[in-house]
Amino acid sequence: MTTAIIGTGNIGGRLAANLVQGGEAVLIAGSDLKAARLLATSLGSRATPLTVAQAIERANVIVFAVWLDTAKQLIARYGDELSGKILVDPSNPIAPDGAGGFVKTIGAGESSGRLLADLVPEGAEFVKAFGTLSADTLTSASRRVPERAVGFYATDDEAAGQVVAELITAAGFDPVKVGGIDESIRIEVFGDLHEYGALGKAVTRDEARAAL
Ligand SMILES: NC(=O)c1ccc[n+]([C@@H]2O[C@H](COP(=O)([O-])OP(=O)(O)OC[C@H]3O[C@@H](n4cnc5c(N)ncnc54)[C@H](OP(=O)(O)O)[C@@H]3O)[C@@H](O)[C@H]2O)c1
Repeated sequence: MTTAIIGTGNIGGRLAANLVQGGEAVLIAGSDLKAARLLATSLGSRATPLTVAQAIERANVIVFAVWLDTAKQLIARYGDELSGKILVDPSNPIAPDGAGGFVKTIGAGESSGRLLADLVPEGAEFVKAFGTLSADTLTSASRRVPERAVGFYATDDEAAGQVVAELITAAGFDPVKVGGIDESIRIEVFGDLHEYGALGKAVTRDEARAAL
């Protein structure tokens, strides 16, 4: 299995670091090759910088560590080239509200997971994951002891979910499936299972079970 991370910002960088620490090799692509090279160099020999097109071609699993609109554009642009791949979406549909907080950029009952899943081409599978914790917590809670923190995911495809569950484990978290893609809304910002929702923290498996 080859994993590509598209996006070299907060989430892309931290997730790539977690995966490399967990022994995974990652392909890194950003808005340009320079950004990908910078991040890959900081991560060592397990990280390979590529263009987005090259990373998509070589990977089986593609994490879109970009904002929702960019993810939409990339899915539209690469279309059939995504067929046969597992697409992973950590996006939260939010923007600054101008008062130091955030506002949801799509309808209250909508999730970016559902919106993106409806755009994926025939033959690609879609998994919502890696967006439930803040970037800081993604780093600080990875490989937490004595009990690992949970990494929630949602998908309609059991096999793709298993593959992503293994990546969640490699990234230093305990994978817990919340349900199908329609449950994505629970693990996005403003959802009850998001770190900033009712749980208010990165939870253990028992705490996750109680909340599910
Ligand atoms: N930050 C968090 O705490 C957090 C937590 C959970 C989920 N998320 C979600 O994770 C996603 C990424 O958030 P972030 O905080 O990592 O944002 P970010 O720091 O702004 O990173 C976004 C990355 O996307 C890259 N990018 C933009 N257009 C691109 C394109 N066409 N092709 C390839 N790369 C492109 C950007 O490159 P340039 O900078 O060069 O344009 C940047 O590296 C968002 O959907 C967000 O909702 C974020």
